[in-house]
Amino acid sequence: MTDVTTTPSYLSFDPASRRVRLDPREPAFVQDPYEAYAFLHAASPAFFWENYGYWCFGGYDDVNRLLRDRRFGRQNPAGVPDSRGVGDDRGHLAFFDAVEANSMLELEPPVHTRLRTLVNRAFVSRQVERLRPRVEALANELIDSFPISEAFDLIPAYATPLPITIIAEMLGVPVEMGPQLLDWSHQLVAMYTLGRTRETEVTANRAARDFSAFLRSYVAERRKAPGDDLLSLLIAAQEDGERLNEDELVSSVILLLNAGHEATVHQTGNAVRAVLQQGGDPRRFFVSAEATAATVEECLRFEAPLHMFNRYAYHEMEAAPGITVKPGEQIGLLLGMANRDPAAFADPHAFLPGRADQKNVSFGAGIHFCIGAPLARLELQVSLCTLLTRLPHLALAETPCFSDTYHFHGLKALAVRA
Ligand code: HEM
Repeated sequence: MTDVTTTPSYLSFDPASRRVRLDPREPAFVQDPYEAYAFLHAASPAFFWENYGYWCFGGYDDVNRLLRDRRFGRQNPAGVPDSRGVGDDRGHLAFFDAVEANSMLELEPPVHTRLRTLVNRAFVSRQVERLRPRVEALANELIDSFPISEAFDLIPAYATPLPITIIAEMLGVPVEMGPQLLDWSHQLVAMYTLGRTRETEVTANRAARDFSAFLRSYVAERRKAPGDDLLSLLIAAQEDGERLNEDELVSSVILLLNAGHEATVHQTGNAVRAVLQQGGDPRRFFVSAEATAATVEECLRFEAPLHMFNRYAYHEMEAAPGITVKPGEQIGLLLGMANRDPAAFADPHAFLPGRADQKNVSFGAGIHFCIGAPLARLELQVSLCTLLTRLPHLALAETPCFSDTYHFHGLKALAVRA
């Protein structure tokens, strides 16, 4: 039960300075960040998070506004030192930096617009809807291979293979590469955790090197035998000359392969857990296509898989009343906290599909709004509806635990019994 009146024991808050000390790896916070969020919504939804060293915003309107505010962006204004280490020795991160330097997620217009326009065609709802039968077939195939009588982990058995297979097929990358793609992807996203070690950085750099090398040789092969997939479309755009260079092609494919499964895997696990915890017959949440869509939206709001995204200030300005930021200063936008804002949602901690005030910032907002949102929604609708209508007695076999990575809010394992 989320209590809004008490200060969680692991958090300290100074009302005068609005400074908060809260270790994002604190086990109680990792398992239930909503207790701290409820306290902060009541005390000060904009606060200076000392452990990160920057201002954070958790109010729904602030997050929505700041994500769209073009005076903030993803690119660190050149030369301004910050926690990402501009000016520090980053020699051991050369391959990682090369991938990020051409990733649309890290870029601003006009380059961002050019890259986004190229891939966007494949992700518009109309195109994505054509994948529905394939996603349904895959969901059914995976369910058919579940063990009948024993407890098993739904994350590797269902939540992971579905989105990784779909994004690999969409891009035209060999599906057998799935486990290798997962390894590289996990090693790369480990870079976004607080307190990462030198070893994490070296491993991420090696993953960036090997992933890029694999893609460069694979692209060379595919150039000779193009198909009806996104990689062929991107190769054609590259051959046009100006529109996409080889480095941008490689970075775009890495971004799509990573973003195309990481968050969806976590969201699938979080959603199954949320639905099962409601008790009763889960089929009531999936009685029609509309009910299924409403359930998925509520799952996205209720237990988002990504809790913090950052922006750099491009100017000196007041980000919110009394909070002035300087060029190059970072801010944190707390998506998971915004989704539980009592000023934006009636009964924010209740799971209520079809709620009248349905909205969420789980896919972000503004120019970097998730390009894969139509695909993620389709995958979640199909995977949850198929799973829980075929197996309405699915039950948790153990209390699931969240991993201690704050940015990625997902389960370590989801042991269930069919
Ligand atoms: C439940 C699943 C997903 C969630 C919650 C999610 C969330 C997000 C968020 C919050 C952003 C914005 C980041 C920012 O503003 O800094 C984003 C961007 C992005 N997402 Fe997703 N995502 C999901 C699935 C996917 C899928 C399936 C794909 C694709 C194939 C994808 C591809 C991308 C890309 C390419 C961007 C960068 C867009 C840009 O910079 O313009 N995502 N996603």
